Amino acid sequence: MKGIILAGGRGTRLYPMTKAISKQLLPIYDKPLIYYPLSVLLLASIRDILIIADPNFINLYKELLGDGHEIGVNMEYCVQDSPRGLADAFILGEEFIGKDKVCLILGDNVFFGPDLTEILLKAKKRESGATIFGYLVNNPSEFGVVEFDSNNRVLSIEEKPQFPKSNYAVPGLYFYDNSVVEIAKHIKPSFRGEIEITSVNNEYLRRGQLNVELFERGMAWLDTGTPSGLYKAGAFVKTVQEMQGFYVSCIEEIAWRRGFIDTNQLLKLGNGMKQTEYGQYLISLAKGC
Ligand code: DAU
Repeated sequence: MKGIILAGGRGTRLYPMTKAISKQLLPIYDKPLIYYPLSVLLLASIRDILIIADPNFINLYKELLGDGHEIGVNMEYCVQDSPRGLADAFILGEEFIGKDKVCLILGDNVFFGPDLTEILLKAKKRESGATIFGYLVNNPSEFGVVEFDSNNRVLSIEEKPQFPKSNYAVPGLYFYDNSVVEIAKHIKPSFRGEIEITSVNNEYLRRGQLNVELFERGMAWLDTGTPSGLYKAGAFVKTVQEMQGFYVSCIEEIAWRRGFIDTNQLLKLGNGMKQTEYGQYLISLAKGC
């Protein structure tokens, strides 16, 4: 399975913070925002990853993550000239996806929770159709929203409905079979002029091939869309890391635990930033203390 991180957009809702930098490079406590969605792909053992970003910032991502070999993955890059919509990921990514299945994660989505790996692997294993998720929120109008019938069967997905039919928002994490590429090509722009991921999901629903898994209460899906959301996400990561001693979304650690890199490589990465707590954390993992 291939993985795509969509890290484009101009981040205008976070101006002036994002006037000169890509939103997904802003720090969430001690690491860039993009590490969080990247860690989700690594947890799912997805090692072929395409990063799609705005032309002004693509080189910054290349500088940050390179070709991926340091964490044992293959990282490729693609420019999105303008934010045409989330479904554009599959049109831009057509060649990269090839004949494979694909997981799309939005570059500004942060997930953290106990059963995350299990949930990801279950979705990854499905041979055909799509898997999306439902997450209970207080403000569903700001998201894609799942409508259920009385037997909990999915009736529709609506994009930012004024009168949401449930409180289940669809987070920015999607698993698709290969037909997503052709589906994306036929999506018509919405009233806001975007080719919506919600239209892709509704097409899978129409074909009877949409699976919606509900996240349990323990799962954290953090908002990074506002200065306050960013601040709270950073505070959350800091609190968890200090309470437990384990880092949240540490890509080098996941790569090592998944066997993508060995202990010597982990140590080298730690030594490269040994003046920071982050580097010291990697060193302590490598030394087993
Ligand atoms: O976060 C989950 C929500 O993401 C879903 O519930 C919605 O169904 C989905 O449409 C999307 O809604 P947003 O309004 O949050 O999408 P937004 O336009 O803010 O884009 C999300 C991220 O994707 C953002 O970091 C910018 C990036 N992006 C967006 C577009 C439209 C791109 O890289 N390229 C694009 O063309």
